[in-house]
Amino acid sequence: MFLEYKDAHIFYTDKGKGNPIVLLHGFLENSSMWLPFITSLSKNKRVICIDLLGHGQTDCLGYIHTMELMAEAVEAVLKKLKITKVIFVGHSMGGYVALAFAEKNPEMVKGLCLMNSTAQADSSERKKNRDRAILVVKQDYKMFVNMAISNLFRPKNRILFSEEIKQIKKEALQTPLQGIIAALEGMKTRKNREKILQIASYKQLMIISKKDPVLDYDSLINQTINTCVKVVEFPDGHMSHIENKEDLLNTLMRFVEKI
Ligand code: MLT
Repeated sequence: MFLEYKDAHIFYTDKGKGNPIVLLHGFLENSSMWLPFITSLSKNKRVICIDLLGHGQTDCLGYIHTMELMAEAVEAVLKKLKITKVIFVGHSMGGYVALAFAEKNPEMVKGLCLMNSTAQADSSERKKNRDRAILVVKQDYKMFVNMAISNLFRPKNRILFSEEIKQIKKEALQTPLQGIIAALEGMKTRKNREKILQIASYKQLMIISKKDPVLDYDSLINQTINTCVKVVEFPDGHMSHIENKEDLLNTLMRFVEKI
């Protein structure tokens, strides 16, 4: 289904009845990443998956997609569906968007799961890498996407999941150049939101992968110290929905069933 928001069409799916869960994909992904999880999750929950700005079937809205702007598009979808309280599960960039949403609308959040994501802002090193990535993607879009996707997996899993990786690359190559650059700019300028982990009164979970090539394990663990955030650890890389699929489903089912 589509919602018209500002100048963009926002694509979303809506399945099941019960407490709403909003699933937000990461950079270069789209809502289809959640397909293997929707049937189980929607047995007694309402599951909404949204293509974030410039990804999947959702249009771009200008040249920088800040996490706040992406969160506003999510808010518009929820408003249209007359949903006032949600459980968020955000994969990586989707987690950044969920945090931006939670900062603006804490009263609408019933639970927050950051999956292979972080509440910290980009370090200066990471910001430089974003600028480099923007140059590379402008020069050779296909090479950038292929490399970016491979680098998300634990090295030994790049062979094990080669078929899945092929499919993910195919999906990622549908992301328009403008969407890629706008997301890189948006992630680069995002705020530190560790405060949310410290003060939130709703249930929070961080799914942390020990061999995540994108995020540093120790720094993620540090974010949860002296907070009520529950931690679940997986042994593999950044793509838990592929690399630790069954464990992820069980973890998510457990997380949402008690809310
Ligand atoms: C993602 O998977 O969404 C990205 O790797 C996040 C990031 O680059 O910070």
